[in-house]
Amino acid sequence: MILSSIVILTGAGISKESGLDTFRDKNGIWAKVDHRELATPEGFEHDPARVHAFYNQRRRQLRDVQPNAAHHALARLEGAYKGALLLVTQNVDDLHESAGSRKLIHMHGELNAGLCGACGQRCRWKSDMSTHSQCPSCRTVGRMRPDIVWFGEMPYQMDRIYRALGQAELFIAIGTSGNVYPAAQFVEEAAHAGARTVEINLDASENTSHFDEVIRGPATQAVPDFVERLLGA
Ligand code: OAD
Repeated sequence: MILSSIVILTGAGISKESGLDTFRDKNGIWAKVDHRELATPEGFEHDPARVHAFYNQRRRQLRDVQPNAAHHALARLEGAYKGALLLVTQNVDDLHESAGSRKLIHMHGELNAGLCGACGQRCRWKSDMSTHSQCPSCRTVGRMRPDIVWFGEMPYQMDRIYRALGQAELFIAIGTSGNVYPAAQFVEEAAHAGARTVEINLDASENTSHFDEVIRGPATQAVPDFVERLLGA
């Protein structure tokens, strides 16, 4: 393998076979609940207790799920690869780090983290959160929210992500429907920088036509196969 820079983008599809729901499938999360009520700053302002309950339930779910073969394959790639590698996930679960990935950006935040509306500090948060929770930094009570990037908010570490995309020789998108910007645009950014682009997804994504190579299949099979091919090349 003679590539010197890889950027990988993952979405909900990579965690599906670990037992976590995706968002836009027939039985996905946004088919059951209204994202405007549960994933916007306005929804939180309107009914914070309901928003806390939604994320508390999803945070608790993390205790019962394990990384799958696709998460493990990406951690193996990070360990074996000598060039620059950046894993950017839209997922708010902790399955990439549980599998051993370290060069990782959670661009949409994390379920296991909180953000204080009073002081702006982010912190680890593994238990339930409520309208009575206290910020561990500034001690304000009642201003904590899940550290999730909601619709209309700016994803994390975009400068670092765009820098990596600008140098990428290979860009791989895994298990993402290509509906949500700016992540949906990364394939074009990477292609513009001269990268080869590969999509691994169960169904056709919204931006599938932008990829040089498309691999259809469940992540637990397609990702380990692809990583073996890459490491063997
Ligand atoms: P989506 O639910 O939009 O898309 C998931 C994609 O994964 C679909 O294209 C499926 O075909 C594919 N898929 C499902 N099972 C799979 C499997 N076993 N193997 C491979 N692919 C599979 O999820 P995202 O694209 O991640 O944001 O959604 C992007 C963002 O929208 C999320 O981060 C979330 C949501 O609103 C926030 O909550 C901030």
